[in-house]
Amino acid sequence: MSFTIAIDGPAAAGKGTVSKGVAAHFGFAHLDTGLLYRAVGRRVLAGEEPVAAARALSQADLERQDLRSAEVAQAASKVAVIPEVRAALVDFQRDFARREGGAVLDGRDIGTVICPDAEVKLFVTASPEVRAERRYLELTGKGADVTRDQILAEVRERDARDTERSTAPLKPAEDAVLLDTSDLSIEEALAKAVSVIEERL
Ligand code: C5P
Repeated sequence: MSFTIAIDGPAAAGKGTVSKGVAAHFGFAHLDTGLLYRAVGRRVLAGEEPVAAARALSQADLERQDLRSAEVAQAASKVAVIPEVRAALVDFQRDFARREGGAVLDGRDIGTVICPDAEVKLFVTASPEVRAERRYLELTGKGADVTRDQILAEVRERDARDTERSTAPLKPAEDAVLLDTSDLSIEEALAKAVSVIEERL
């Protein structure tokens, strides 16, 4: 039996944490689809052409340690506007979603484009200020030399690019359940997500 949970939302809304927690709770496999776009972005920063880079992607690309940088994130959101790049990544995501035993996919267009028939759709969001603060604490915690203003500007820039693009823009599916994590702890956000999913299992 396959059971697909689609989790979408903007950067640093808590999507990744909720997705990992939900996958662990239900024993489902998890795919962070942002990694696919980051891996393409990283190849493009290294000089490759975006569509060829997307078509050439392999498992090894997804396991690299350097996909989390702000530079790669910006490159990812730039390649993500190219329809042929998105098209090259569809089959991998759909195959993952249909695997036996259940799957959690998180990204921007999972509930709207990749898995419109997902059994559960969550749209995880939070205010730009809260998201920028979380990202700031995460990056400075790792020793990065960044300012709050810089991070807020990057969050807004990436939001604008993700919501305004014409192919698969970031938006909640009509049947998605909204989860605003602005005033929630990680535990509270995860508990809400688990209860929404349990109602549909
Ligand atoms: O989620 P993450 O921050 O790793 O995603 C990096 C970028 O990849 C996003 O800003 C977005 O432009 C793109 N992306 C996308 N569709 C997805 C996942 C990520 O366009 N399903």
